[in-house]
This record gives sequence, C-alpha cells and structure tokens, in this order.
Amino acid sequence: MKKGNVRCIFSILVCLLLGAKVYHMHAHQHDYSKEIETLLSRMTLEEKIGQMNQVNFDSLSDELLQQVENGEIGSFLNVTDPKVINILQKAAEKSKHKIPLIIARDVIHGYKTIFPVPLGQAASFEPAIAETGARIAAVEASEHGIKWTFAPMIDIARDARWGRIAESLGEDPFLSSLMGEAMVKGFQGRDLTAPTAIAACAKHFVGYGAAEGGRDYNSTSITPYALRNTYLVPFQKAIDAGVLTVMTSFNDNDGIPSSGNKYLLKEILRKEMRFSGLIVSDWNSVGEMITHGFAVDGKDAARLAASAGLNMEMNTGLYVKYLKRLVEEGRISISDIDASVRYILNVKFCLGLFDNRYLNISKESAIYSEKHLQAAREAAVKSAILLKNDNHTLPLREIRKIAIIGPMADAPYDQLGTWVFDGEPEHTVTPIGALRDYTEYKDIQFVYEPILRKSTDNDTVNFRKIRQTVETADAAIVFLGEESRLSGEAHSLSDINLIGYQSDLLREVKKVGKPVVTVIMAGRPLTIERDLPYTDALLYCFHPGTMGGPAIWDLLFGRANPSGKLPVTFVREVGQIPLYYNHNNTGRPAPDHAKTLYDKSGEKQSSVGDVSFYLDSGKEPLFPFGYGLSYSEFKYSGLSLSSKKIGMKGSLVISVTLKNTGNMDGTEVVQLYVRDRVGSIIRPVKELKGVQRVNLKAGESKVVRFVLSPDDLSFYGMDMIRKPEPGYYTVWVGGSSNTDLQETFLLE
Ligand code: BGC
Repeated sequence: MKKGNVRCIFSILVCLLLGAKVYHMHAHQHDYSKEIETLLSRMTLEEKIGQMNQVNFDSLSDELLQQVENGEIGSFLNVTDPKVINILQKAAEKSKHKIPLIIARDVIHGYKTIFPVPLGQAASFEPAIAETGARIAAVEASEHGIKWTFAPMIDIARDARWGRIAESLGEDPFLSSLMGEAMVKGFQGRDLTAPTAIAACAKHFVGYGAAEGGRDYNSTSITPYALRNTYLVPFQKAIDAGVLTVMTSFNDNDGIPSSGNKYLLKEILRKEMRFSGLIVSDWNSVGEMITHGFAVDGKDAARLAASAGLNMEMNTGLYVKYLKRLVEEGRISISDIDASVRYILNVKFCLGLFDNRYLNISKESAIYSEKHLQAAREAAVKSAILLKNDNHTLPLREIRKIAIIGPMADAPYDQLGTWVFDGEPEHTVTPIGALRDYTEYKDIQFVYEPILRKSTDNDTVNFRKIRQTVETADAAIVFLGEESRLSGEAHSLSDINLIGYQSDLLREVKKVGKPVVTVIMAGRPLTIERDLPYTDALLYCFHPGTMGGPAIWDLLFGRANPSGKLPVTFVREVGQIPLYYNHNNTGRPAPDHAKTLYDKSGEKQSSVGDVSFYLDSGKEPLFPFGYGLSYSEFKYSGLSLSSKKIGMKGSLVISVTLKNTGNMDGTEVVQLYVRDRVGSIIRPVKELKGVQRVNLKAGESKVVRFVLSPDDLSFYGMDMIRKPEPGYYTVWVGGSSNTDLQETFLLE
C-alpha cells in the first residue's frame, strides 16, 4: 500500500478509536491534523464557508478569479479544460491560505473511453471489470484535471421504470457492494497522492432508488430495518473501502429530505457507519428543501443542511449567502462549520493537492489508448447476457451473409448510454462500424437496412424493405433497444416495452423465415416477453459503450462465449414491479406456476388457495436475477457442506462440482444463496452471499468452494443490532437465483 493511502487510513483509524462523541473533531487526530489545524486557526469565517461552496463552472471571468482569490470557492464542478483549471488553481494559490481547489465531474462509466453503463458492468459479476473500468476512467479524467468523480452510484434499484436504474449496480445489496467497492478502489487507486487518483463519491445517500412508482426524485418510505439491511449495505462497503466522499440524495424519506436529515447524516452515517470523509449535497438539493416544503427559504435551507452535517453545498450558493449570518445569530455552531472544513481540507490533503495542484499539459495522453479500448471491449463482452438461444442459433456458423436491421445497429451516441458528458460518438465503434473497419470481421458479408432510424420512430414506411433485405441473407440480426436519452436521470418511463415500432419490426423480420437473432441495447430491463417468440436468439446488452460493436460480434460469432448474468429481475409486465428475488415471504406464498393452475382450474376463488400472485401475470418473473445462458452448458452436482452445524465462531465450506458439458470453453458465474429460515424479523427467501466466475474448458469439471462465516449471515434484527441469529439455514449453489440444488445447516 502506498504512502497516501496509509496516511489517510491512519487518519480514519485514529478518529474511529476516538469514538463517536468527537465525530466532528476527528480531523484533529489524523495525520494531516497539524496542517489542517494550522490552516483552520488562520482562516476567517468567510474563508471557511468558502471551502464549503462548490460552484458549477460556467466561464472564466475576472470576477470569478477574484472570488477564488478571496477564498470564496472550495470546489468547482464541470470544468475540463486543463489550461482553465491551471488558471483557476493559480488564483487559488494567490488566496491567503493557498488552499487548492478540487475539481469535480460526473465520470460515471468512463471519461472518454466509455465502458458499459454500470448496470451492464454489474452483469459481469466480476469486480475486476468494475475496478479496471473505474481506474481507466480516473486515468483519463485526471489527465483533464478532474480529481473527484460523483460515482459510484450504489442505490439499490428494484424498479425498471426508474431511468437511473442504468446507473445502478442492480437490485441486490451483495452484488452492489462487490461492484461498488471495486469502483471505489478503481477511482481512488492504490496511492491517493498519485496524479491519476481521483476521489470517489458513494451516492445517493440514501434510498434514492426506491422512488415511489419509479418516478425520479419521488419520495421514499424506507423503514429503519430495510434501510440497514438493504439500502445502507453497499454504502458501508464503500466506506470500508475508503471512499473519500458521500453525496446526499434528492428524495425525502418518510418526509425528511436527506440533505437536511440530521439523524441520517450525524447519527447513522457518521456514528453508526463511521464515515469520516466529506459529505456533499446533490445538485441544488439544499435549495430544493424549500420546494419540498421542509425549509421556509434559502436561509432556512442552509441552516437545516449545515446543522444536519452536510459539509459542502453543490451549486446553489446558499451556504455562502447565509451561513455567516446564521453563525452570528448563534443558529449554526462554529464547531459544525469547523468540522465541515476539516473534512474538506482532509480530502484535499489526502489527494496531495496542496503539493501538486497543477496539470502537466504536455504529458502524453492515455485517452483512447489501445489498452483502454481493449479493456472496454472486454467489459462489454462480459456484460452481455444471452437470454435465449433456441436450436443453437448462436454462435453464428456457416453463415455467409447476414442482414442487419434495426435502429441500434449504428447508433454511436445512443450505444454509449446515459451519463456520458465527455464520451465522443465519433470514437464509438458500432456493430456496423466494426464490420466496416475491423480486420477480424472483414470477410463477413452483410447488408444493412435500419428500417427504423431511431428506436422512437413512429413511421413504418420502410417496413416494405424488410423482405428484400432479409431474403437474400442466411440470418437476420436485429438491433433494438432504447436511445440513450430514454434512461438516466429524470428519464423514467411508465411503459417499458420496446418503444415505437420495434416489436412490429421484429415480427415482420421473423415472417421472412430466416433465423433471427436480436440484440437489445438498453438502459433498463425492458418487458420483452411479447417479443421473445419472434426471435431465435436474444443477446441483451445494457448500453455497452465505446467498444460495444466489436464486443457484440465477438459474442455472436463465437470468438467469445457469453457469460453475463442478470443483475436485476426481468419482469413480464410493468405491473409486477417491484419484483425482486430477495423478497420476504408472505404468509400465503403462491405455488410455482400459480397462474397456469388458476387458468386451468376455471374456478373462481380458491382454486390454488388464496395466495399471493397476479391473476394475469403470475408471480414468476420473465427471467430471474442471476440468469444468463452460455454457448456451453454447465452441470452442477455434489453440493456438500463441511459440516451440518457451525458455531458462532466457526465457518462453513460449501463445495459443488461444476462441469462444462458443452463443446465450447466457457465461463460460468457460480452463485451462492442463503436463506435464514426463521428470524427475529422475516428474512428474504434467498440472499446472494458469494459469486465466482469459473472458466472451464469443454468437458472440464472443477470443484468450486465458498467459505461462509456467521458474519456473512448477520443482519439487523428486532433489537436493531447487527448479528447472525442461530437457527437453520438453507444454502443453494447454482447458475441463477432460481436454483434447486440445496443443503441445510444449523448455526448454533
Ligand atoms: C445528480 C447527481 C450528479 C449531480 C452533479 C445531479 O443531478 O443527481 O448524481 O452527481 O447532478 O452533476
């Protein structure tokens, strides 16, 4: 471990040892405390408040530079011109205390080289994919002066209507923790003082993904148990991984907006979760407390946020405007202000900004390097999920000519997905681009006719060209999905079928009678049940990024074997939402296929018992969490436990034999699930507790082992203390959450 990290971790440890009482004083104790305290003692109240002010950069002006020189601004977001950043830093160096600025930006799934959207990366179930993606994003972004990204977003997302599900790591706390932690490590790197290290930001604290009805920014009603057992889990992992910053969310939970929620920030985040980094608001979220009906005016909003323990305010300038007066009136304590400034200065010290604030502009650029592009291609390969493959339609073999149809085949901007401020469509390799430009695909004959230009097209005039396009080919590859603007922030949908005339297009293509392969690029799990009969194979790619094109052909032509698994449940109907694998049991769970039983019985009321399901869409999803096919077939057998009983200090080894019974080498994501049969509060019917990507040659088998400790089973029970509870547990191992291979053990 490098020096920068050791110092920061040391600081954090010291403050933890000093305990909860002095949570806002902890910077005294850490390694930079001397420097911080010296600075603090010399700073005026205005200068302190200036550090708490994050400003959206618009353009350079004398007035702005003067503000920086006066120490009125602690951070900018959205400036990416290294020359401008150096000018701003120069102004900061001219300020009385020479405190450097920290430059922030949303670098969510790549800076210039765009990786699959986070939901796609989560489908790889491989933390190294997320870590490498974040590292490369940091290398590229830091080249342009960005030292702080607002990522990872680790909101648990269980509603596909919510546009920001694309930016999430899915529905599961374990998987979100695994991938979120990897992203934190990737962004921040091994040495925080290295020029390529950028601060990560765990967001949005907290519960933002549980917006009522999946409508962005909407209220949430998360109970204290659900908060701790589900929504806080990935945040705790990010904190344990050393995330330097946390962002408060827009939503109100149970009537209290996060940016003014003192209990949430001071008691839960600082004390319970022991976070010792910097808390920043979301864009305007302090000011929006007025609109919520929580604050009277700007001054009141600033008071509520500052006394809740929110350290830096993004964009609205309410801190700068009102905090001084609030302190003078005795309504905000100076210790709250000092605590905030300590957290902020600590991040700046940790990142080495005091010693090294200027950018080396003449440095050779790593942006779009071959290494970065190859990593993005690998990530896109591992993020794609094969959902259907009848009659071994894929991989494409003995196909001389293909017909390529559909709006996503050559959509360089849209394939990048949401939250791409800096990615450039001219660098995107679309499926069509790959066929045109990549030597490995130069022998493939193809005819391309999009038929629909955009996914949203409402014009079927080109449908008449379908037959002639497909007839002369050996197979049709249909690229469907969502334009990137259909997902992401403020882009929620109430209808999540394939938009426009895409389903009709697929039907028409199928009528021609050639094998049909569908590739969907989207920001969310769409409701595609009605489309499945019209395609022989289906590859689902959450927007795959810069290198999506070659990655998709790698998979379709069998140069790579699909290995992605679903990080979210695919529902049949939007009305099934929320439907997630790790739900609680009702007292009246429905039997499997309850809808079919009901349909057959013809009875009115109690044909399958009075149980919990939808008469029209049953209780089963279309595809369960963790599901995904391969060109290989994997057989699980011989599940065994090292013991049928373990004590609270013991651990359990779970073994299973996995065999690749197919005739292609492949990778299987082996998943371990657990159910605590009886709890002081009801435990989910299944919970992911382990994943391993296992590579197997055709015909090869391996014993896969997981180690489970009582701590892995712990949760917040009735007494709100996190601990494992004794009793019987069921363990499953398999290739999805819908697996039967199970064993039981007792925790004593
Ligand atoms: C989003 C955040 C983002 C911020 C800054 C907000 O609208 O909710 O996730 O980091 O803007 O761009």
